[in-house]
Amino acid sequence: MDKLLISGGKPLSGTIDISGAKNAALPVLASTLLTSETVLIRNVPQLNDIATTITLLQSMGVEIVFDEQLNISADAKEVNERRAPYDLVKTMRASILVLGPLLARFGEADVSLPGGCAIGARPVNLHVRGFRAMGAEVSIENGYIRARSSKLKGAHIVFDTVTVTGTENLMMAATLAEGTTVLENSAREPEVCDLAKCLVSMGAKIKGAGTSTIHIEGVSSLSGTDHTVLPDRIETGTYLVAAALTRGNVRLNHTEPGHLEAVIVKLKEAGADVSLGDNWIEISMHGRRPIAVDIKTTPYPGFPTDMQAQFCAMNTVAKGVGTVTETIFENRFQHALEYQRMGADIRFEGNTAVCRGVESLHGAPVMATDLRASAGLLLAGLAAEGETLVDRIYHVDRGYERIEEKFRKLGADIQRIVG
Ligand code: EPZ
Repeated sequence: MDKLLISGGKPLSGTIDISGAKNAALPVLASTLLTSETVLIRNVPQLNDIATTITLLQSMGVEIVFDEQLNISADAKEVNERRAPYDLVKTMRASILVLGPLLARFGEADVSLPGGCAIGARPVNLHVRGFRAMGAEVSIENGYIRARSSKLKGAHIVFDTVTVTGTENLMMAATLAEGTTVLENSAREPEVCDLAKCLVSMGAKIKGAGTSTIHIEGVSSLSGTDHTVLPDRIETGTYLVAAALTRGNVRLNHTEPGHLEAVIVKLKEAGADVSLGDNWIEISMHGRRPIAVDIKTTPYPGFPTDMQAQFCAMNTVAKGVGTVTETIFENRFQHALEYQRMGADIRFEGNTAVCRGVESLHGAPVMATDLRASAGLLLAGLAAEGETLVDRIYHVDRGYERIEEKFRKLGADIQRIVG
């Protein structure tokens, strides 16, 4: 198993490019199942989760071709297998996103139930309830969600909880349903808008993506398209915090500052000087130690849960006391237990981590438990004195493209130990 070895304590400085968003590319790849025509997808990050999705699509019969720029053409003319097997779903929960497209276009889908994961229970009951509301027969058999429908019907669906992939799955299914579907209490994340943009360019009739009420008027078929995936706001935020906690200054190009408002507000509160352009962000600490901040995760446009571990890392070395309250996932503080092993002063009160910043952390061997926890551990390692060895970094490779290359470009001392 690969590990990353970091020798910390150096301020990061320099410029890097941000990659396409993993969480936008995944649903867009799934949406290629909705059409028999070719879909060209640009700005797809090279990540393990993308490779898993491609394997899944190929196992169903979708033809995938990469061009020299690594853009992906997906051709789902022949789809002979309408099943997402346990072996793939267990490594990537987002595989559930093929359910909506398969059911809508072919009337059948068998997708393994994802089960729990390191950050919480993560049920898919709201996806299932939505498909049932659209007239599908859905049962759970041998660990699989078995969904059947001769023709999905438009429905009025109110989500109990804001769910990102739930909104995306039902929005995709509704594009080919008979009649109009209204999704209320929908997720407003930029990745939902990016998927809607792709679907609209395929001929779907969608209004209101980016608001909490989405209207989808079903059409009889969708066409191919050419779609460019939006920049990754979580990757952007991760490098911004890396600059803040190492007291550095960094410029990030090819990003979308408008998607990071909640994060930028908190970085400014932490004492960062942040400048924004059309597609770039610059952050500078002018050598200052960050000030601890209070954050509470909520659905977009609130503070993202996917940035919580990174801010928690910043608070460990910041001036003062900061609280991090997690409201989306019930078990998302594994990273904080590892920060404690590096000398962080953190105590827990229910779903809040209260952190009193220390002058510096000390390097230690630590274990990544999920994708964003591993990002947090890398940041803690960059800020710490001495060496930090981060184990199980396959989690990092699921969601950060060429991470050690990018950190090295910013002056970090980081190397991969292949094991
Ligand atoms: C998406 O996961 C992201 N994944 C996650 O990114 C992200 O953390 C999460 O949204 C929240 O922003 C992708 O987009 C592929 P949810 P998703 O459904 O859609 C509850 C990363 O590190 N819920 O919005 O699976 C659920 O338990 C990750 O890149 C139900 O109760 O999350 C949670 O408490 C990890 N029933 C809340 O809703 C359901 O049927 C929000 O989850 C569905 C969800």
